[in-house]
Formats: sequence, structure tokens, C-alpha cells
Amino acid sequence: MINLLENISLKKFNTFGVEARTRYFASFTTYDDLKNLILSSHPAERQHLVIGGGSNLLFTKDFDGWILHNEIKGMKVTKETANEVFIKVGGGENWSDFVDFTVEKDWYGLENLSLIPGTVGAAPVQNIGAYGVEQKDAFVSLEACNLITGKICQFNKLECDFGYRHSIFKGDEKGKWMVLNVTYRLQKNGELHIDYTPLKKFFQEKPFNQISVKALSEAVKNIRRSKLPDPEVMGNGGSFFKNPIITKKAFQPLQEKYPDIPFYELKDNKVKLAAGWLIDQSGWKGKSMGQAAVHDKQALVLVNLGNASGLEILELSNAIAEDIYNKFGIQLEPEVLIL
Ligand code: EPU
Repeated sequence: MINLLENISLKKFNTFGVEARTRYFASFTTYDDLKNLILSSHPAERQHLVIGGGSNLLFTKDFDGWILHNEIKGMKVTKETANEVFIKVGGGENWSDFVDFTVEKDWYGLENLSLIPGTVGAAPVQNIGAYGVEQKDAFVSLEACNLITGKICQFNKLECDFGYRHSIFKGDEKGKWMVLNVTYRLQKNGELHIDYTPLKKFFQEKPFNQISVKALSEAVKNIRRSKLPDPEVMGNGGSFFKNPIITKKAFQPLQEKYPDIPFYELKDNKVKLAAGWLIDQSGWKGKSMGQAAVHDKQALVLVNLGNASGLEILELSNAIAEDIYNKFGIQLEPEVLIL
């Protein structure tokens, strides 16, 4: 089924809850509908933006093209062995519902990614991650539709070129594809990841062999609820900036000056810093500019206090980035897509 609309508000299609309009909006439930839609418009007019749950987007102006909203549903086990399950999931499925489904089955792999807003189709695009796990760890392959030709192509893990909040769909292939479905490999008897400090603290008293997939998922949900605002209550797009990655050499003087600075060592003599800590240290937590504010429990999250425009949120983010650059010499990059 296809649903075509013209000149509509995008307010309920972005979790920041900001006002913006799109010239055309199309949602569809099958690949054939999407293909017909693509092929019925002139190639020169194929200005498309694919949206999932709108949880990683900041609209700062109206959109003069087609917004494509994937509503392809379905979860199907395609292969099952004594230890593993392969599951193919429609790109329009809600990510958090999908994770809950796997947790209920007691399958290992996605429990640390519980309660992340957005859709399954968007998950590989920015390689979502939390609490020491990224979706790439369970990823097998995806099928995507080319937005110019309407043809389907399969991408395996290597071809997706996953990195920290990155894939080929944010790089060389940006804007060219719509993810139709994703296949994940889950374990029936796997390993639980509780190295992340708040999780370790949560399970302090409990022997490791007594922690279940379900208990870990619940712990993740509790931690998220305590730090991250619910978009239904207060508009936001999760972490606004990426955690910056710098060289060990550039990190040394920072560590001398700020001995408590949290960091995470990466390969190739690189270090990942916590943007939230840098912003917090600079006194931004809880601060507001007009209707845009820095969340009072997690400084990496910018929130809409009620009636913020996208531009207001952008201005706040620019002021923060400039301040961080002046104080620490580090250029923060947005994690959300700014349009
Ligand atoms: N911190 C502060 N003050 C703050 C926020 C953080 O001092 O206001 C410090 C914390 O104490 C901690 C460090 O910064 O030492 C890291 O903070 P936290 O563990 O909360 O995680 P994060 O680095 O801010 C990242 C992801 C989140 C993900 C969490 C948990 C990015 C951009 N963000 O946040 O992902 O849930 O780790 O794994 O990588 C998202 O992408 O939208 C998102 C929420």
C-alpha cells in the first residue's frame, strides 16, 4: 500500500518535534510500491530523503522534495541451527520492539541495544550502538533499493564499511539507497556484555552466571530511562554530537590538564573522548537558549522545551561547539543529520 501526501507538516515525523513542511511525503508497505513510486517520477526530480523514526534528524527548513517513509514490516527466521538464529526484519519495524522480541525469545546479541528509538532500516545506516555493543556485531546483510533505478542490491557486512556511528550509507553511498530489510545473527547461548561501568555497577551484587538476556535488557532500559529524555515527553534526538576521536599525542596535554577526563583507547594510537563530559565541564548542562536546552541529566542531549524551531536548536549546538573548540581545541561533529 502506498500513501501519497503533499505539503504536509513533519512535526510528528521527527523526535525533536520541530515544525517543518515537505513538498511530498510517501509512505509504503512493500518494495513494489516503492519501486513504482521511484520509476514514476522523472530522474531529475528524484530528490529523496528516507526517514525512519525521525529520531536522528533536525529540520531547520522546509524540505523541497520527496520524503520517503518506510513502513515495510515483518520478522522472519530464515535459518536456525543448534546455536544460532538468523532473522530477517523489515526496515519499517520499530527497533526497540524488534529487540524486545529477540529478548523474549532469550536470544543473545541485541539486548544492550534495548530502547534505542528509530527503525530497523535506520539502524545499519548509522551503525547504532550503546553500552559496548554496536548493531554491526550481530549484522549479517541487508537488502536496499536504489533510489534512482528502483533495483534491489544486497550488501554484506564488509560492503557496509561499518565504523563508529558510520556506514557506507553515510559515506560514498549517501542518499542513494533505502534499506528494505536487515538480517541479524543471534545466539541461543551467547556472551553477555556488561563491561560498561554503569552496567557493572548495576549487577555488582549478582554472580555473572545468574544474569540473563532479559535482566541485561531491563538494566539497559533502566539506565537509559534515568539519563535520556523520552521524546514523547520532551523532544530530542538522542546524542546530538558524536564522541570525538583524537590522536594520543593530542590527548596527552588534555589529560595532564584534566586528570579526570574520561577516555576510551582505540587502535591506531587514537583515543575516543566523551563529548558529554566536555560539554558538562564547560557549564552547559541544563542551560537554555530560547526554547532549546541542554538536557540536565546528560549534556550530550539537546532538547526542545516546547516550541523550539530547528534553527534555535542548531544555534545552541553551534554555540556549544564553538565553546568546546575554544576551551579544548576539539571540533565536535553533529551525530544528528541537520537538514
Ligand atoms: N558525562 C558527563 N556529563 C554528562 C554526560 C556524560 O560527565 O553530562 C561523562 C560520563 O560520566 C561518562 C562519559 O561522559 O564518563 C560518557 O557518558 P555516557 O556513558 O552517558 O555515554 P555517552 O558517551 O555520552 C554514548 C552514546 C549513546 C549511548 C551511550 C551508552 C554517542 C554519541 N553516544 O553516549 O548513544 O547510549 O554512549 O553506550 O556515542 C545516541 O547515539 O543517540 C546515544 C544516546
